Amino acid sequence: MENRSSIFTITNSSSFEIRNIEDEIIEWVRNNITRNTEKVFLQTIDKGTNFVPHVDPITPSKQVRHYNLMYLFETGGENVETCFYETPPDTLEKCAERGIYKIPYSDVKLISKFVFEKNTWNVMNNQCIHSVEGITGKRMGLSVSFYNKIPPDFLKSFISI
Ligand SMILES: [Fe+2]
Repeated sequence: MENRSSIFTITNSSSFEIRNIEDEIIEWVRNNITRNTEKVFLQTIDKGTNFVPHVDPITPSKQVRHYNLMYLFETGGENVETCFYETPPDTLEKCAERGIYKIPYSDVKLISKFVFEKNTWNVMNNQCIHSVEGITGKRMGLSVSFYNKIPPDFLKSFISI
């Protein structure tokens, strides 16, 4: 579990850390959720009060995390809100050109916000501009990333059609 992969800091002193996890957990995700996820890791925000509006950046290997299935073990506080903002269609491309993925609060318009509960699965669109607000403690959870679209076997597990 001490296999630290990377730490990002996005203003307001919030730090975002990604750690690799045990193969057994990855195997459980593959057997019970989807065999088509490129990345399963533990993500933590443990400093600061908020995580400013942004779209998830293009990775060094040129991948884009479009969706993220999260299971929070720690929420980061009593009423931590994940906020989503109006996102012009070319936002990611413009951010990629500038190499800056965080967006000033003055440039965004809030469209919805959610409190992601502890021990609950939530899926979110990481290319919609989003922020995390009201952090008072450690926020930590399992993250299953989808770099393209949500895979059909995942949809079958969670949505009955
Ligand atoms: Fe994000």
